[in-house]
Amino acid sequence: MTKTWWKESVVYQIYPRSFMDSNGDGIGDINGITQKLDYLKKLGVDVLWLSPVYQSPNDDNGYDISDYQAIMPEFGTMEDFDRMLSEAHKRGIRIVMDLVVNHTSDEHPWFVESRKSKDNPYRDFYIWRQGKEVQEKGTAVTREPNNWGSFFSGSAWQYDKETDMYYLHLFSRKQPDLNWENDKVRENVFSMMDWWLKKGIDGFRMDVISLISKVQSFPDGPAKMNSSYGDAGPYTANGPRVHEYLKEMNQKVLSKYDIMTVGEASGVTVEEAKKYASLDGSELNMVFQFEHMDLDGGETFKWNDKKMDLVELKETLSKWQTELDEKAWNSLYWDNHDQPRIVSRLGDDRVYRERSAKMLATCLHMMQGTPYIYQGEELGMTNAPFGGIEDFRDIESINAFRELTGRGMDGETILKYIRYKSRDNARTPFQWDDSHMAGFTTGTPWIMVNPNYKEINAKKALEQEDSVFYYYQKLIRLRKEYPVIVYGHYKLLLPESRQLYVYTREYEGERLLTICNFTGESTECRIPAEFMEGKILISNTHRSQVTEENLVLEPYEALVLYCPAV
Ligand code: NOJ
Repeated sequence: MTKTWWKESVVYQIYPRSFMDSNGDGIGDINGITQKLDYLKKLGVDVLWLSPVYQSPNDDNGYDISDYQAIMPEFGTMEDFDRMLSEAHKRGIRIVMDLVVNHTSDEHPWFVESRKSKDNPYRDFYIWRQGKEVQEKGTAVTREPNNWGSFFSGSAWQYDKETDMYYLHLFSRKQPDLNWENDKVRENVFSMMDWWLKKGIDGFRMDVISLISKVQSFPDGPAKMNSSYGDAGPYTANGPRVHEYLKEMNQKVLSKYDIMTVGEASGVTVEEAKKYASLDGSELNMVFQFEHMDLDGGETFKWNDKKMDLVELKETLSKWQTELDEKAWNSLYWDNHDQPRIVSRLGDDRVYRERSAKMLATCLHMMQGTPYIYQGEELGMTNAPFGGIEDFRDIESINAFRELTGRGMDGETILKYIRYKSRDNARTPFQWDDSHMAGFTTGTPWIMVNPNYKEINAKKALEQEDSVFYYYQKLIRLRKEYPVIVYGHYKLLLPESRQLYVYTREYEGERLLTICNFTGESTECRIPAEFMEGKILISNTHRSQVTEENLVLEPYEALVLYCPAV
């Protein structure tokens, strides 16, 4: 397998709104990021992915962009951005930008023009359709062009009275979908990307890139449980021309630079991922798949408090590990700005918070692929104790509450699910220290600070030798020292175990054994004979040697054994 820097890197995701506020307005900003570059350098990450910092009315916190070539004033100026980029580069840290081109904001000049008239030159930049005439109780009425539901509740179509037509928005009403069938859309997007790359950025994380090609007959989708709308997925995810578009993007833009690309790919299967992230380099470097994150979904989509089943989790992650091996490249993640905190989801955020956070990190970072750390994950930050719906800021959570209560579901039950799964859990301010507002802002933060900041914060973590922070630092360092961690082939052991996640890696004779106890109980694990002589690379319980073949693991214990080539 060809060695490349992005396979050997560890990426750190910053959600700028919640990372560090440098000017006291309660909102994180670019100068705040610059101030904290030394902290990130100390952690040892190679690449920063910034969630969108572009001009935006913030209907979806910057994922609704009204100017791709301007910085949101709340976040600073283009000069601030250029300074951050050059300061990051001075420290050997690369910057990857979020690229949101499935949709724009409805306040983007292209859409402002598009909605003016049917013959406006920008009309076909978006997806406009005539309403459907239907008979309801004997009267003719006009309904949406098809039954597709939006990811953020309600219909995916919005009626626009100016031209008496509907436009498609797979996300909020203020996020109209671009029409990628239009050559001019692609040309404009590609030249904007080129502009950023010329500035010196190091790549793109591509928002919902698997959705850019829609089936042009726009058929109704299958019914969804607990929803009045149909599933747009079969006609939007991995659509008919998506690979053609990405190959074109690759030829015209990406291949001209030494950069890293990762596509967010909802609905992606391993078969599709082999095309998106093929090692032949014709499209992207890697994708974010969702299969492991969707394992605890249920009848009301993600709104649930079901626990993930370890056997299913292992089966899913192992499928990605083995099927992409030597064909495509994996991205590895537990957390991001759209997911609740992993230590509250798969670990124990009370009694064994630090140990379980370290165990989860070990389990992920020893796999094949490029690992992503989401801000605060390196401190073991937890879900927040949100109260009522008024505590939430996220459009997805708020709309879901309205829609599900509107359908007669019990408000308290829905709130319980939203508290557990809301994206806002990831978006509470980064906990820097135990001072006012966790040291995030001198003002009033845009979203509540998790009250556990007195206990969980970066200052404290940096002062404690065995903190989660230093554990992550070590995992990152090990990846640089042992090629087997980056390139090794993966093999799952004990697939049926309901307590243990155990796997090996092998690369040019070097071998690695990772053992993780996913439970709060001690449990036994038989160490394969060939690892009995292995050296402990990392342990979250200060274990220094393995003497017994039948090893008794402590609750949430994680352990990695290494054997050199003979
Ligand atoms: C995926 C992003 O990660 C999410 O935060 C956003 O709401 C949607 N795409 C729409 O852009």
